[in-house]
Parts: sequence; structure tokens; C-alpha cells
Amino acid sequence: MSNTPLLQGIDLRKTYHLGKTEVPVLHGASLEVQRGDWITVLGSSGSGKSTLLHLLGGLDRPDKNSGEVLFHGESVWKKTNKEINEYRNSDIGFVFQFYHLLPELNVFENVLLPAMIGGRKTNNDMARERAASLLTRFGLDHRMLHRPRELSGGERQRAAIARALVNKPEVLLADEPTGNLDETTGNEILDVLQGLHQDGLTIVMVTHEQQIAERGNVVIQLRNGVV
Ligand SMILES: Nc1ncnc2c1ncn2[C@@H]1O[C@H](COP(=O)(O)OP(=O)(O)O)[C@@H](O)[C@H]1O
Ligand SMILES: [Mg+2]
Repeated sequence: MSNTPLLQGIDLRKTYHLGKTEVPVLHGASLEVQRGDWITVLGSSGSGKSTLLHLLGGLDRPDKNSGEVLFHGESVWKKTNKEINEYRNSDIGFVFQFYHLLPELNVFENVLLPAMIGGRKTNNDMARERAASLLTRFGLDHRMLHRPRELSGGERQRAAIARALVNKPEVLLADEPTGNLDETTGNEILDVLQGLHQDGLTIVMVTHEQQIAERGNVVIQLRNGVV
């Protein structure tokens, strides 16, 4: 069992339907993530990078009868709805290009949110402690009570990373996490990810920039719907 990949996409196919038009995006993409990997998927805009991450993270389903997502060797889509929600909420952490912080909550509340909703019941005090310690680790202790709009882009992304980690996921999925940031700030975010990786976190990151992809320890290309 010890060499079972932590996360696996097998022969993933995804076609979007726009009215009667079919938009095939993934044509049998497979990928293996071992515990401790930092995999970057490099692909041009529109190549299906976000689609691939959504499938891996259980946010979207592959086409009917086409491929599998396995977590610890178990099919994600054969889980019950409750288990799939727990998978999205607790096993996987998601970081997006545009942060997706809720504007009406302060930074601390944003980070705490995944621990409060759905998923596996977490002890309230422990979750609050963890949210605060993640924010402190990422240099945001003085920003906890601020609204996201009062933060810079880099600070927002660090808050979003803290939110992604609050439930102690086994894998962090990052969708162009530096795509909305200038180069210096983007590098700071990549340094944060590198620190987390060095601490043992497994990361799958997608990007369209070669230079960013090279920060990972395994670089794979997504082209023509396959990797
Ligand atoms: N919900 C959707 N409905 C229809 N087409 C979509 C949808 N999401 C993505 N697409 C199309 O699928 C292709 C791949 O999208 P995406 O996975 O977002 O690529 P990337 O993240 O690499 O830029 C694009 O051509 C995009 O327009
Ligand atoms: Mg994308």
C-alpha cells in the first residue's frame, strides 16, 4: 500500500457543452501525485489546466465512464455525497488566481470558514488557533481584522493560502496562484509554497509560465488535452 499514489487522475476526459456545441478539453489526461511531490502542470491558456485541477479536487466530474480520480487509491466519485464534500473541504486545499475571499468577512473569518462549514467537525478553539497561527506564519497577524479589499494582492493570496490549509489538507491544488500578481510579489507567494513543500505538503500547481513551473520538483506539460 505504501507506494499507492496519494492522488491520481487516470484517463480523464472532459467535454463542455455549450448548447449543441461540444467543447472537448481533456482527452485522457493521467497524472500521479506522490506524497511530498510539488508537481507543476505547464500549459497554455485554454489548454485545460483549471479543468484538470477541478477534476482532481472533486469540484467537477469527468465525462461519464471516462477515467477516475483516486485519492489514497479510492475512487472519489464512488464516495457518498457527504464523503465527497469532506474530500473537497478537508483532504484538498484550493488556491485560485483571484483569491476568492469573501468581501464581507474579515481575513480571520475567511480563513476560519472552511473549518466551520461542512467537512469533518473540527474543534472550534483548535480551528481558531490554527487560523491565527497560519496568518501569523504568513505575516498577516496585523491584518486579521481587516477586510480583504484593504489588503494588497500578495496579502490576499497569503490569506487564501491560509484558508486552504486551515483543515490540514493532504494536497494543495493551486490554480495560477501568481497569475494576478507582479513578479516580485508572485515570487514571494512561490517562496511561501516552497516553504510549505519543504515542510512536507504535497502541491499540484498549474501555470502557463515556464519560469514559474520550474519552481516545482516535477514539471509536466498539458497539451492537446493530455499530459
Ligand atoms: N464551464 C465551461 N463551459 C464551457 N467551456 C468551458 C468551461 N470551462 C472551460 N471551458 C473551455 O475549456 C477550455 C479549457 O478551459 P480551462 O480549463 O479554464 O483552461 P486553462 O485553465 O488552461 O486556461 C477553454 O477553451 C475554455 O473556454
Ligand atoms: Mg485556468
